[in-house]
Amino acid sequence: MTRIRHLVSVEDLASAEILGLFRQAKEYAGDLRGWSEVCRGRILASLFYEPSTRTRLSFESAMQRLGGGVVTSAEMSSSSAAKGESLADTVRVVSGAYADLIVLRHPSEGAARLASEFSRVPVVNAGDGSHEHPTQTLCDLYTLWIEKERLEGLDVVLAGDLRYSRTIHSFVYALARFGANIVCVPHRGLELPEYVVRRLREEYGTEPVRADATDLGDIARESDAVYLTPQKPHQLSLFTDASRLRVDRVDAVYMTRPQTERHGDAEVSARYMRLSSSAMAAAPLREAIVMHPLPRRDEIAAELDDDPRSRYFTQAARGVPVRMAILAFLLGRLELEAQPPENEPRMFPVELGVNPCPNTNCVTHTEKRHLRLGFRLTSRDPLRAACGYCSHEIPIGLVGCSTTRHFHARDSATARKIRPDHLVFFRDEQQAMALGFSAAVR
Ligand code: NCD
Repeated sequence: MTRIRHLVSVEDLASAEILGLFRQAKEYAGDLRGWSEVCRGRILASLFYEPSTRTRLSFESAMQRLGGGVVTSAEMSSSSAAKGESLADTVRVVSGAYADLIVLRHPSEGAARLASEFSRVPVVNAGDGSHEHPTQTLCDLYTLWIEKERLEGLDVVLAGDLRYSRTIHSFVYALARFGANIVCVPHRGLELPEYVVRRLREEYGTEPVRADATDLGDIARESDAVYLTPQKPHQLSLFTDASRLRVDRVDAVYMTRPQTERHGDAEVSARYMRLSSSAMAAAPLREAIVMHPLPRRDEIAAELDDDPRSRYFTQAARGVPVRMAILAFLLGRLELEAQPPENEPRMFPVELGVNPCPNTNCVTHTEKRHLRLGFRLTSRDPLRAACGYCSHEIPIGLVGCSTTRHFHARDSATARKIRPDHLVFFRDEQQAMALGFSAAVR
């Protein structure tokens, strides 16, 4: 039996698959009405536990354009979730006779990963808290691919709320994968989360370097811009001042709104950065297209709507052909001449049922009845692990072995030798002993 493919993270697709989807999306876009046999007889279920306009409607439109049907629970407060049903149970039921594919948006980080474990049909992550939003990233990358005719080595400015925007997190991994130079211009205090920066460094060899963004003018004035470069540190030493890279030509500026519903800081909105015609007059931005996942508030001035570089509405329109390609592919109605990603990161079970994930908005905390906790090993030396659902780093005080029932210092040689499926993480000695572990005798 062929394995079900889910789209929970951009990592679930190989680069060649992404390009294959784009070629197909372009074909679909040529005549949106000409594909009504592709998914005839298939049903998409959209489960939206958070508001949405573009994502849900473009998915539903895409499915209908492919000739398929749609069942939707757009207002989950009117569903059994309001009666206390767990996400796992809802997914078990919907993925039975009800639908052939589930599109899920949920406020908890890692919710789509959890859903994929209980689903009998493909699950598409349409946004899980501030974690990821991979299909938005495919729409964003598609826009770059069409407009710039390549994906490799682009120079992209990411501006605004980089901490809580899930679109940014998925996008930044994808950009890094295609060797982009990424200039982060965050609103002060809303920088990229540490776990994202660490992952960029450890898994993509991307180095954050302080950028000299003076040439970027207004947009970077209030911000400490950081350059994420695919160059390795030894190459950076070729620059005379390795600690400051100049930004002199940008392909795209990607603006985001303040995610006030996630950080609750209404003050931020009052002082938020704003992209205007004068900001876009800076020399390095001459050929930069302006992108935004939408909805926007005031962070892009309306005067830019008529600027020939603005692409945010076209970007949203492209959501339909891109999602048509995603649906056709996941439903087995589109063959791509590409292999799936090779090394799927393995998730190891968390022993003893003590949840080591520090992120209180992680689905492992919000879905209390979900017991299959899991982690991924992100580095062996030094020993580092991340929650298998929300990707936040697990704080490791001590490391235990579930077979010997001994605990060891995190940086000890013994700790590094423990098989991943026997690893147990403890905050401190007290917790280790309370769970029946003892110090290793030397
Ligand atoms: C984004 C989202 O929901 O994360 N919207 C979208 O899907 N286009 C961006 C946002 O809400 O700011």
